[in-house]
Amino acid sequence: MTEPEPPSVAALSLAETATEPVHGKKKEQEINPWDVQAATDEQGNVLEFDYPAISQKWATKLIDDEILARFERVTGHKPHRWLRRRLFFSHRDLELILDTYERDGEFLLYTGRGPSSDSMHIGHTIPFEFTKWLQDVFDVPLVIMLTDDEKFLFKEKLTQPEVYEFARGNAKDIISIGFDPKKTFIYIDSEFFTSGYNRHFSLNATEFEKLITNNQVRGAFGFHGSTNIGSNAFAAKQCVAAFASSYPFIWGNDIKTYHRSAKLAAMPCLIPCAIDQDPYFRLVRDNCSRMAQPSPKPALIHSKFLTALQGAGGKMSASNPNSAIFMSDTENQVKKKINSHAFSGGQETEALHREKGGNPDIDVPYQYLAYFEDDDEKLLKLADGYRKGEILTGEMKKECITLMQKYVKGFQEARSKVTDEVLAEFLRPRKLEWTGNPRVEKKEVKEEAVEGGAQLGEDGKPMTKNQLKKLLKAQETERKKKEKEAAKAAAQS
Ligand code: TRP
Repeated sequence: MTEPEPPSVAALSLAETATEPVHGKKKEQEINPWDVQAATDEQGNVLEFDYPAISQKWATKLIDDEILARFERVTGHKPHRWLRRRLFFSHRDLELILDTYERDGEFLLYTGRGPSSDSMHIGHTIPFEFTKWLQDVFDVPLVIMLTDDEKFLFKEKLTQPEVYEFARGNAKDIISIGFDPKKTFIYIDSEFFTSGYNRHFSLNATEFEKLITNNQVRGAFGFHGSTNIGSNAFAAKQCVAAFASSYPFIWGNDIKTYHRSAKLAAMPCLIPCAIDQDPYFRLVRDNCSRMAQPSPKPALIHSKFLTALQGAGGKMSASNPNSAIFMSDTENQVKKKINSHAFSGGQETEALHREKGGNPDIDVPYQYLAYFEDDDEKLLKLADGYRKGEILTGEMKKECITLMQKYVKGFQEARSKVTDEVLAEFLRPRKLEWTGNPRVEKKEVKEEAVEGGAQLGEDGKPMTKNQLKKLLKAQETERKKKEKEAAKAAAQS
C-alpha cells in the first residue's frame, strides 16, 4: 500500500471521479493504487474496511480452508498465521500456482514497493515478511521492484535524485527482513532501466504498451486527458515485471540477444501484495496472452491493510508518528505509543471491565498480537480472557509491547548489518540459485533462438496452427469487448 502523502494532482482528480455519491457524510470505501479510504457513516465516523465487498467487486477468490489444505499438502508446510487468520484474505489462481509447483517445481515470485522517505512501519514490512516466508516454503527466485519512477511521476514535488535515495533506504529495510541474496534480485527502476540488463524488460514493456489503449488505462485507473503520459507507460512496467522473460540473467540466459525466451515467458508468477495493487495486475492478466510469447496470468495473493494505532479505518502515516510503530522506533517509543495511543476495546474503568469484559475485535493491541503472535492457542486465550474481563487492557497492552519491541529490535539489529556492499549485491543483475520443489527434477530453461516460440496447448504440446488461430481469435474478440467497456467507462467519468 502506498503510504498516505498529500495527493498529487493526478491522484486528486482520480479520487474525484471514483468517489461514490455523497449522502450526508456517508461515503463508500475507496480502494485503488493511489488512494485507500475506509467508508464513513452518515455522521462521518470512519468504518472498518469491508474486505468481502472488495473481493466480490473485483471478482477475486477468498482464501478458504480448502485452498489452505491443498497448500499444506503440496508444500508440506503449515500455512502461515496470516493465511490461517485471513490477514492475507484473497487470491487469484493460487490453485494454479500449486499445480505448477507440483508439476514443474518452480515459478517466479514478484513483489514491490513505491519508495518513501520515512523508515518503514510495521504495515510496510508485512507484505515482505510474508513474501520471505513464501520464498522459504517454495524455494523459488524472487524479484522485488522499487518503483522510484512511479513515485516521481505521481508526486508533483519529488525529484529523481530524491526518490532514488528513498529507494536505496527502503531496499536496505527490505533486506533486513532476511532475504537470501542467492535467490533474490532487488531492483530500483531508474537504475535497472538504464543498466543494459533491462533489454528484455524494455522489449516486453514496449510490446505491452502497444497492446494497451488509452481507453483501457483510463478505465482501469481513472487517468484522463491531463494525466502525464509517463503514468500510462509506467503501468506497463509494473505489469511486465511479472514476466520471467524480463529477467533472463536470473536463469543464466544471454541478455545481449534480441530474442526473448518463450519458455521464460511461459513461466508462471505469484504476486503477494496489498489488495489496492490489484488494478495493475488485472491489466496484465487481461492482456498477457496477447504477447507474441504469451505469459500465463500472474497469480495473486492479497493482504488486508494493517490498522493504525488509532483503530478501525485509521491510516498509518509518516506525518503522524503516533499513528504507527516505525521500524526505527526505540523500545521506549514503542511502549509509549502502545500505552498512550493504541485504541482499546476495553471498558472505561477496571470494575466495569471486570464486569462486562472487553472487545478484542476492535482492540488495536489485540489486533497487532493477532498479526505477530504465532501461537494460536495463546491468542485464543487472550481473546477469551479479554471478553470475560479476566484480562485487563493494561495486560493486553503489555503483551503487545513485549512482542512489538522484540520485533522492532530484531529488525534494527539486522538493519545495522546492511552495508552499501550488501545492498550492491542484491541490486546486481545476476544468475540466482534455488532448488524449487525437491520432488520435481529441475529443468534447465535454455533460450531458444527462434523469435516467437511455440505456443503450448493445455496438454503441454505445441499447438497446431488451427488451434493457435482459434485461440488468438477468441482472445481478440474478448479484448475488443473489454476495450469497448473501458471506452464506455472512460466516457462516463
Ligand atoms: N506500485 C507499488 C506501490 O506503490 C509498488 C509495486 C510495484 C508493487 N510492483 C509491485 C507492489 C508488485 C506489490 C506487488 O507500492
